[in-house]
Amino acid sequence: MKIILRFGGIALLVAAIVILAVLPFATSFVEQWSRRDVELRSRLVFNSARDQVASLLQKNDAASLTALFDRITSDERVLAIGYCDANGLSYPTKNMPQSFSCEQAARSNAEASATISEDNRNILVSAFPLKVSSGRTGHLVILHDLSYAEQRGWEARNYLFLALTGVAFGAAALASVIAMLVMRRWLASIRLAIENARTGTAGAPADDELIPIGQEIRDVLRELESSRRTIDAAHTDWSPETLRAALSNELSGSEVIVVSNREPYIHNKTESGDITLQIPASGLVAALEPVTRACGGTWIAHGSGSADRETVDPYDRVAVPPDHPLYTLRRVWLSEEEQDGYYYGAANEGLWPLCHIAFVRPTFRESDWRMYRAVNEKFADAVVAEAKREDPIVLVQDYHFALLPRMIRDRLPRATIVTFWHIPWPNAETFGICPWREEIIDGLLGSSILGFHTQAHCNHFLDAVDAYVESRIDREKDSVTFGGQETLIRPYPISIEWPPTALEGQKPVPECRLAVRRRLGLPDDIRIGVGIERFDYTKGIVDRMQAIDFLLTDHPEWKGRFTFIQVAAPTRSKLASYRQLQDEAEALAKEINQKHGSDTYEPIKLLIRHHQPDQVFELFRAADLCIVSSLHDGMNLVAKEFVAARDDEEGVLILSAFAGASRELSEALIVNPYNGHAMGQAIDRALRMSPNEQRERLRLMRDQVRERNVYRWAGQMLLAASRLRKRQRIRRLIKAGRRAAANA
Ligand code: G6P
Repeated sequence: MKIILRFGGIALLVAAIVILAVLPFATSFVEQWSRRDVELRSRLVFNSARDQVASLLQKNDAASLTALFDRITSDERVLAIGYCDANGLSYPTKNMPQSFSCEQAARSNAEASATISEDNRNILVSAFPLKVSSGRTGHLVILHDLSYAEQRGWEARNYLFLALTGVAFGAAALASVIAMLVMRRWLASIRLAIENARTGTAGAPADDELIPIGQEIRDVLRELESSRRTIDAAHTDWSPETLRAALSNELSGSEVIVVSNREPYIHNKTESGDITLQIPASGLVAALEPVTRACGGTWIAHGSGSADRETVDPYDRVAVPPDHPLYTLRRVWLSEEEQDGYYYGAANEGLWPLCHIAFVRPTFRESDWRMYRAVNEKFADAVVAEAKREDPIVLVQDYHFALLPRMIRDRLPRATIVTFWHIPWPNAETFGICPWREEIIDGLLGSSILGFHTQAHCNHFLDAVDAYVESRIDREKDSVTFGGQETLIRPYPISIEWPPTALEGQKPVPECRLAVRRRLGLPDDIRIGVGIERFDYTKGIVDRMQAIDFLLTDHPEWKGRFTFIQVAAPTRSKLASYRQLQDEAEALAKEINQKHGSDTYEPIKLLIRHHQPDQVFELFRAADLCIVSSLHDGMNLVAKEFVAARDDEEGVLILSAFAGASRELSEALIVNPYNGHAMGQAIDRALRMSPNEQRERLRLMRDQVRERNVYRWAGQMLLAASRLRKRQRIRRLIKAGRRAAANA
């Protein structure tokens, strides 16, 4: 309806412009024509009266002349008549204007006409030379009131206006009817295409002459239909296969590029000169690596290993996983100065403490931010260089690349950019202290989709957008339109692969227990708790040790019967806050071991070194309980890994309420890590929990992690990206269709 009204409106507008342009010309044309008509009448009057007037002038018969002139002026259009000669005006009729003078009117020897004005009306004076045989010469002057001609002009203009307006409305109605018919055919054709796509039949083809893009519309609709089927079939059981199927159904031919700071495979050189492969301790890597294995494509990351340069090809690429390559790792090299400013400075001394409520003050240095920007540019160059198409799907990861989405959008406007923020997003007030807040928001809003772990983080982000930049926020759709481009803000709780690769080849639980006890010199009957993570102040490692102190103080019966193994992988050790934490944790472990331990018993075993995933899983399987006591954490995948590692359905998870994982794993013992005493009680409760209760809790949590695994996480984001791409394509097609219909 809108488009039909628009058609009619346009026709009316065009008609109005034509009317306004034509009317003045038409009026002046009619006026000139009327004036010529009056001149002709004057000449007719003169020709018919000339001989009689000449004879009466000859006779000097004033009475007859006056009578003759009065008779002539009885015609209402002749205003006045008179005779001009050397004596001036003679025999003027009674309506002769006061202002009339023979000098103005009768100067030439030829017939002449002029217009004079009197009392706001125009008068046409026609002067005709008249020779009398007595030799007397002069002019017969005939005056016509021109208001008649003017009125004719006005009338003509009014008639013309009415006529043209009528034609304009007629044309508008006709244009609307034509538009309606075209639209009806067009819509019928789209409906037919939809119906054909829905039923899967070929059906009668749409009118391709009318809609040249009809075939394309049909293709897109068919894709949409298959997408619906993919989602229906896959939503309960996400696996590498369903992810691959979803990708090939939904995004076939698409190119996937992942960007993160941390690389999934690090090549290091040992002191003996051998090259070893390290899988870094990073939740991001743990989640994304299986996804990239399933999707293929290119993963761009910082090459941080000491043997990384030796293992790439001339284009800085290496096929990974090394024993069975499935995708390409493209390494980006960073100088020490770049790492200091971008990674240690802006990312880990600025944004990391800003986003985590762990009471470590963020440091914002302008020089760090400049480097952060420059390194983001460097990665944008790498994305553009790796992209083989102008519309790749780029999966941008984490707080190291807040500016990258905008940079990619500027250079590859048709890319689908899905950014995932792996850490919490603080509330707007906290975020407001960041001197780079506007730039960060602008950068992230270059994304097509921006994902966080929880709805709360999405809400915090929307609040920050609302507070610090001019944009349109749609709270129902959870989207932000900024600079004419829309970004969807969505929660996608991250997870782990199911079943975990690290579980492959694991020995049965009793054997794992035995192996760990032997390796650490623990007695065979000792109960074991584990904590495994990077040595990060957000993880609550010190708080957990204090809880063990409380446990052994409140429940001394566990002394000699319970050991807590804390694996802490060294991380970001260049930063003082991390070094201090390590010193503090080492001192505290020593103190607790002295307080509650003996020559043969150490309550806390602190292992400060990197463990490969299979070693981590062995530890999980050996444990009676696992403690995840993050002070603040986006998700925390250690919790999910512990649950996944326990295929024997035993073991207890003690989980911080401030880790995103606590929203999904509600059957864990949920604790407040700031309350050491209560955490100590939770450890005691875990150690006393019956195997039945452990099983019940673990089963529910395992179902949750199995169903909501990382393939689902990636699948949902990729399907959202695919829907977005299709919607954009349909929008483009509909626009093109409208243009085609308008031109038809
Ligand atoms: C967190 C971040 C990741 C990071 C990981 C390890 O999980 O969200 O982006 O990779 O910590 O930190 P690192 O600085 O060693 O990469």
